[in-house]
Amino acid sequence: MDMQGKKIVLVAACALVDSDGRILLAQRPEGKPLAGLWEFPGGKVEPGETPEVTLIRELEEELGIRTKVACLAPLTFASHSYDDFHLLMPLYVCRRYEGFAEGREGQTIKWVRPKALRDYPMPPADEPLIPFLMDLL
Ligand code: C5P
Repeated sequence: MDMQGKKIVLVAACALVDSDGRILLAQRPEGKPLAGLWEFPGGKVEPGETPEVTLIRELEEELGIRTKVACLAPLTFASHSYDDFHLLMPLYVCRRYEGFAEGREGQTIKWVRPKALRDYPMPPADEPLIPFLMDLL
């Protein structure tokens, strides 16, 4: 795999965990790259943002969930080369948040038990993150 000369894209992702230990997955909508695949919610880190600030913004925009930097615990990160860019994606775990998650941008969401995560096809960058969550939860 040629990993040289690629633009690095920084995306922050979050494993939102509910009181039953289930994790929220969101399905990428039609019209987006990797449509139909299930991912940990999050998004691109914009200039001037830290990954934590990105997640607080994205969780509110995408899901209507409010949380704080202190409630975001970094767990691991994905480092994956796509054809046209290299993705660096820190994964945070969040167990403390306010609000009731809903797909505010038309995306389907699902609360999934750790053992069932593999039943949901994911982008190749997200898949290697699963064992870290299985160990944790
Ligand atoms: O979500 P967005 O399309 O802005 O993310 C940019 C790119 O990062 C996606 O096209 C996808 O290739 C990758 N990505 C990923 N896993 C995620 C989020 C994004 O592989 N959970």
